[in-house]
Amino acid sequence: MKTWICEICGDAYLGDEAPHSCPFCGARRAFIKVGEQANPVVLSTDELSSETKSYIQETLELELRANAIYTCMAEASKDYEVIKMYRRLARVEMEHAVICTKLLKIAMPEAHTEICSQQDVENFKQTVELEEHASSLYADFARRSVEKHIRIMFTALNQAEMDHIT
Ligand SMILES: [Fe+2]
Ligand SMILES: [Fe+2]
Repeated sequence: MKTWICEICGDAYLGDEAPHSCPFCGARRAFIKVGEQANPVVLSTDELSSETKSYIQETLELELRANAIYTCMAEASKDYEVIKMYRRLARVEMEHAVICTKLLKIAMPEAHTEICSQQDVENFKQTVELEEHASSLYADFARRSVEKHIRIMFTALNQAEMDHIT
C-alpha cells in the first residue's frame, strides 16, 4: 500500500492505486502524487500579492456559504441518497474553505447559516447555479493570479466544482 498525497489540500490517501480524485477536496487524479513526490500548495510559505489575497478571501466566503447551503439542503431532503450527496458536497466545500485559511494564514471564520428550499428539485437547480458561478470565478482567478502555485490551486478548484455539476 502507498501513501498518496493531494498537492492541493495536502491530505493523504492510503491505497495501492491513486484515487480517481482527492476524497477530501475533489482535486483530480493529476494532482495526487506518491508521498515523497508531493509538494502541496497549502504548505507554500511564499508571500502572496494583495490581489491574490482578495481572490482567496472571496473564495473563502463563497465556500463557507456553499457549505451552509448544502448543509441546509441535506437537512431539507427526505431522500437518503440526496441527504448523503449534500453532506458530502458540504464537506468538500469546507475543505476548500480550509485550504483558503491555510493560504491566508488565518483562523476559520464563524460558521454561516443559510436558508434553502424544502424541495429537492429546487435545490438541484440552485446547486448547479452555485457550482457554475464558483467554477467560472475560479477559472478567472486562475488566469489573474501571478503566483504559479495559486494558479494551480484555482485550476484544481475550478475542475472540482465542474465535477460537482456532473
Ligand atoms: Fe485534496
Ligand atoms: Fe468549493
